Amino acid sequence: MNDLSLPFDTKYMPLAKLQEMHRRSLESPEEFWAEQARQLDWFKPWDKVLEWDPPFARWFVGGQLNASYICVDRHAKSWRRSKVAIYWEGESGDRNSRVLSYSTLYAELNRFAALLKKLGVSKGDRVALYMPMIPELPIFMLACARIGAIHTVVFSGFSAQALADRINDTQAKMLITADGGFRRGKVLPLKATADEAVASCPSIEHVIVVKRADNPVNMKDGRDIWLHEQLEPETHYVAPEPVESNHPLYILYTSGTTGKPKGIVHSTGGYMVHNYCSYKWVFNIKEESVYWCTADVGWVTGHSEIVYAPLAHGAAMVIYEGAPDYPDVDRWWQIIEKYGVSIFYTSPTAIRMLKGFGEKEADKHDLSSLELLGSVGEPISPEAWLWFYKYIGKERCPIVDTWWQTETGTIMISPAPGIVCAPLKAGSATFPLPGVDAEIIDEAGNPVPPETRGYLVLKKPWPGMMLGIHNNPDRYRSTYWERFPGKYLSGDYAVTDRDGYFWILGRADEVLKIAGHRLGIAELEDAAASHPSIAEAAVTGKADPVKGESIVVFALLKPEFTPSPQVRQDLIYHLRKVIGPIATPEAVYFTTKLPKTRSGKIMRRILKAVVENTPIGDISTLEDQTAVDEVIKSFQEQSAEQPGKPVSSTG
Ligand code: WTA
Repeated sequence: MNDLSLPFDTKYMPLAKLQEMHRRSLESPEEFWAEQARQLDWFKPWDKVLEWDPPFARWFVGGQLNASYICVDRHAKSWRRSKVAIYWEGESGDRNSRVLSYSTLYAELNRFAALLKKLGVSKGDRVALYMPMIPELPIFMLACARIGAIHTVVFSGFSAQALADRINDTQAKMLITADGGFRRGKVLPLKATADEAVASCPSIEHVIVVKRADNPVNMKDGRDIWLHEQLEPETHYVAPEPVESNHPLYILYTSGTTGKPKGIVHSTGGYMVHNYCSYKWVFNIKEESVYWCTADVGWVTGHSEIVYAPLAHGAAMVIYEGAPDYPDVDRWWQIIEKYGVSIFYTSPTAIRMLKGFGEKEADKHDLSSLELLGSVGEPISPEAWLWFYKYIGKERCPIVDTWWQTETGTIMISPAPGIVCAPLKAGSATFPLPGVDAEIIDEAGNPVPPETRGYLVLKKPWPGMMLGIHNNPDRYRSTYWERFPGKYLSGDYAVTDRDGYFWILGRADEVLKIAGHRLGIAELEDAAASHPSIAEAAVTGKADPVKGESIVVFALLKPEFTPSPQVRQDLIYHLRKVIGPIATPEAVYFTTKLPKTRSGKIMRRILKAVVENTPIGDISTLEDQTAVDEVIKSFQEQSAEQPGKPVSSTG
């Protein structure tokens, strides 16, 4: 266990306050959460704090609210109307930056909501968004919330097919996209990809297109609409639709252990209350803070920690359009200096990448505005943590290592400087936040002693938890609640140390984290096997010094195909086409056998051991033990042909 001593003295920090709050929250959760919920604006108070019909939780039942009102109206009606809500930094710098105050955000929100209504979107309708990191993305999300429509944002790095699958699963009637988006100076042709997707999405009635990159696009008469041509020049007030607390705010797809991504459905009331609280506890947000979360809005971190929590607090934040290393590798440090960022929240992949560029890049800039640093999405190693602490935070800023998931909706285990900052340990997410009843258990469901690895589970419902999986209550029940009845299975391994600190060790299931992006092994294998040359494919994750993990494919070709660099390239291209550039494998090995058990299950741990050059372990359950030699031979012979890929994106 890495229990590294830190340069500050943490012995006397009053942890008791946190422990007392945590104890109270678990003893009387309903009272505790009702108290928290009163900090938000409700149009009608709830009748019941919690209806728990395991595994389905309904929070603040009967209460009515509107997320866009909480995020925008209440600030626009206060002194914050002139406060900056969003400093938007375009990839190409000053020529392309925008500053939106809360009153500007309010005006835009109303105009966008009016347009959605004019185009026939109403309460309960699903609206898909496939957009670059431009202010129109959060504004459209809030505009959906304003009229009670349910947004489903699809990360702009996903392919046409992935977009179409998500649109068809939600039956969205509208898609909002842009002509293009900038990434490392290149234009991503989003509209062209959207066109390809929508061709197989009969539910889509209209496509709204935001002009961003000025690249040529096709506009289909009667279906496609330019935003700037249709927005009314004047603001028309659109009254926020009061929705019941359990009206879905959004659906967001995430990968699991089967081939088909899950549409995670989040509520409005419970989600907003919990996010509001965890944001305050974790980031210690103050009126004068300048907050920057580097995630893409297309992932849950962007939903909760760029859109809903910071805006609910009336925070000032930076949103950056582009890549961390464009045009230069000190781009992020330059942005921190330019806006005086005080809270900087990013991913371990980004930290490792920036560490690779060296602290000399950070030293070119004045980072003295920083007060707090954060990390999310993957385990952070003590080395990366200490580099971040020392060279970016200059040993002044606590680091909040925040553990959570798309399903949990908000941060669950993390240091909480907004309550009291526990003494930190490099690489530990410290303790569960108030209201979070976390435990680590063994195969039999019994709690494990300290320093023993086990499954991380949650034993009580929490307000931010998902309502379920869209159109699939059975999958919701079986994925999360069946293995250990009454306990939510997170899918992660964790361990506590002798001081009770939680250390998250990574996924315990067949889900990969590639640069913080979540991808299912089954999803990748299905995609690979859909290529005409492939008879069967097996995928494993390989430890990667920057991305955390990278994708490695072992492929069995159909008899009529022979291995060649061209077939390999085709397969790589195919995976990018079916899922998106985030699914680009680092290596593809052609083999004639895959290691399988007698029941036909692929033993992926053997593939992993081969690519990571670790001991193979027990192979007695293998059907054909020569498969191991075959895999080793393919790996050794074909490694030289594949030098590995640079990092393409960060979470
Ligand atoms: C991983 C991202 C270690 C974990 C918010 C989890 C982490 C998955 C941490 C969820 C952390 C997230 N330390 N691992 N601080 N935070 N993870 O749904 O494996 O994209 O189950 O949500 O990311 O990924 P998701």
